[in-house]
This record gives sequence, structure tokens and C-alpha cells, in this order.
Amino acid sequence: MAQEENCRAPDGPTAPGKSRAPGRSPAPEKLPVPEHSTIGRVVAVMSGKGGVGKSTVAALLAATLARDGHRVGVLDADITGPSIPRLFGVKAMAAPVGFGIIPARTPSGIQIMSLNLLLPREDDPVIWRGPLISGAVRQFWTDVVWGDLDYLVVDLPPGTGDAPLTVLQSLPVDGIVFVTSPQDLAAMVVRKAVRMARLLKVPIAGLVENMTSFRCPECGRETPVFGARRAGELFASLDLRVLGSLPLDPALSELGDRGDIERYEAPFLRAVPSLLDGLTRAEATAETHGPARAETTAETHGPARAETTAEMTKGRCLER
Ligand SMILES: Nc1ncnc2c1ncn2[C@@H]1O[C@H](COP(=O)(O)OP(=O)(O)OP(=O)(O)O)[C@@H](O)[C@H]1O
Ligand SMILES: [Mg+2]
Repeated sequence: MAQEENCRAPDGPTAPGKSRAPGRSPAPEKLPVPEHSTIGRVVAVMSGKGGVGKSTVAALLAATLARDGHRVGVLDADITGPSIPRLFGVKAMAAPVGFGIIPARTPSGIQIMSLNLLLPREDDPVIWRGPLISGAVRQFWTDVVWGDLDYLVVDLPPGTGDAPLTVLQSLPVDGIVFVTSPQDLAAMVVRKAVRMARLLKVPIAGLVENMTSFRCPECGRETPVFGARRAGELFASLDLRVLGSLPLDPALSELGDRGDIERYEAPFLRAVPSLLDGLTRAEATAETHGPARAETTAETHGPARAETTAEMTKGRCLER
């Protein structure tokens, strides 16, 4: 299909400087590691749909990694609708220096870069067309002085447009965490995003099902506000690992609104580093032994396990 050909990567993702198997066409140009930084692993948080909790999950992932002692940065690739500074309660502007831009820091030391940190007022609109948006995303990688990071979490805007395409094609993304809510539509659009990732041969770490149910604080009864859960189905049909689920929790939105997202815990996200390691190993094997294949994720993570969803640990507020 013409549409697919346009965004099809000629080859699998390759870290800058990594050797490739002979006789294979060159990968789409990945940006080199920024001059003043070393960045361990890059993980993108994505969904086809808006408002399903991508930024929330990206922030929770960064906070989880930081709590485990890792050096973490968050690149807010949502150029026109950035929400990362607000979730972390960061108001300080990013500081331009001679050789780049120093990111802002959250209370727990996570480095963040967002277009909102360059605007005089957080409600100033950014009315840009695609090339400018792509340019800003690339600059957030090349011109920001990230320093030494173990993990860079990239928060993507909804859909499969300019910013997601730039991130997946130009940044050395090690794995994608997909976010979906139980709605039919969200499941349908997440399929599109999963398909895009596979066309671009970017490995997928797994799926977070968000807003699964609401527990009544009075009677304790759980209501599946957005309908029956779909993660198991998606997992089976798309060969995706379900990383965990988050209930519709007023404490989470309240902490996000007041810039205290670091106080919420989603322990299941602690599995992400080892999953990324597995994806990288699978990629290295594919490089040596044959072409990258869309089934890599399924192969790495083993057969579908129905009980995965039941095993998942839900999020909780540290204040409780
Ligand atoms: N599990 C949850 N419980 C309660 N509120 C939630 C939960 N997840 C997200 N929210 C709230 O839903 C709203 C949308 O979340 P968020 O901004 O993370 O979504 P998004 O997918 O990044 O949106 P966009 O597509 O606009 O970037 C926010 O107000 C957030 O606080
Ligand atoms: Mg968002």
C-alpha cells in the first residue's frame, strides 16, 4: 500500500554507530547521540488515541525509574499540547546556554524538556505545521544538554502524525510502551499505532491498560466505566505483553493536576528496564541471524498467558 511504503523503514532500528549485517539497505537516518550527553535507553509512550493517559503513564514510568535509582529524562514530544511540566509541577524555564539548552528538573531530579518550558506563558498556543513540529522534536534530542541518563522517556502526542513519526524514525527508540483505555475506539486506534511501530520496525515493550475501572469509595464495588476490559484481547491479537493496568483513580488525576505525579506509584512499570534489555537482545540476534521480524516482541516474551492481566499490580497513591 502506498501509505505504508511512505513510512516503511528500509531496515530495523539501529543504535548510532552500531554495525549492520552486510548487504542490507541503510536504516533511516537516526540522529547521533547528543554531544554533551550519554543516553542509555530510549522508551517512547504512545497511543493512537488522545486522552487515554499517555502523559500520565510516561510521567509514572519516569518516576518509577527514578525511584529505582536510575538517571531519567523526559522528552515531551507533544509540541502543541505539552503536559509534562504541569504533571511534575515544574515552572522553571529551560535554560539556554552557549552549547545547548539545560533541561528543567523535577523535585526528584528527573530532567524534563518540553516546549512549554520555552514559552513565557504555559497557555501560549503553539500553532505550527508539521516540519516545525518535527524540527522541534529533533532539537529536543540534539540541542538539549541531557547529561548522563540511564533512560529517556519520550511522551508522544496522540495519533501517527509528524511528531510520532519523527520520534520513531529519527531517535534510537529501544522500545514503545502503548497505552489504551478499554473503549472500542481506543482499541481500534491503538492497532493503527502498533501497526505503524511495526512498519517502522521499532520494538514494542508492551501495553498499559488505563482507566480500567472505578472503585466506589463507599461500597468498594468496581465499575468498568469505559466498558469491559480489552487488554487481553488486544494482547492476543497483536502479540503484545500487558505490562499492567491502572484504575480510574481520582487520586491520580488530582496528583497530576497539582504537579505531584511523582507521589503516585505504579509498581508494574518497574519491569520496563528488563523488557527493554530483552528487546535489545532480540534485535541484536535479528541483526546477526536474519532480518528483523514483526513477531520479535512475541518471540521475546514467550507465549500468551491469560493470567498476565490478573497478575498485574495496580497503581497506588503514596499518600494513602
Ligand atoms: N488512571 C487514571 N485515573 C484518573 N485520571 C486519569 C487516569 N489516567 C489519566 N487520567 C487523567 O486523564 C486526563 C488525560 O490524561 P493524559 O493527559 O495523561 O492523557 P494523554 O493520552 O496524554 O492525552 P493527550 O492525548 O491529550 O496527550 C488527565 O487529566 C489525567 O489526570
Ligand atoms: Mg499527553
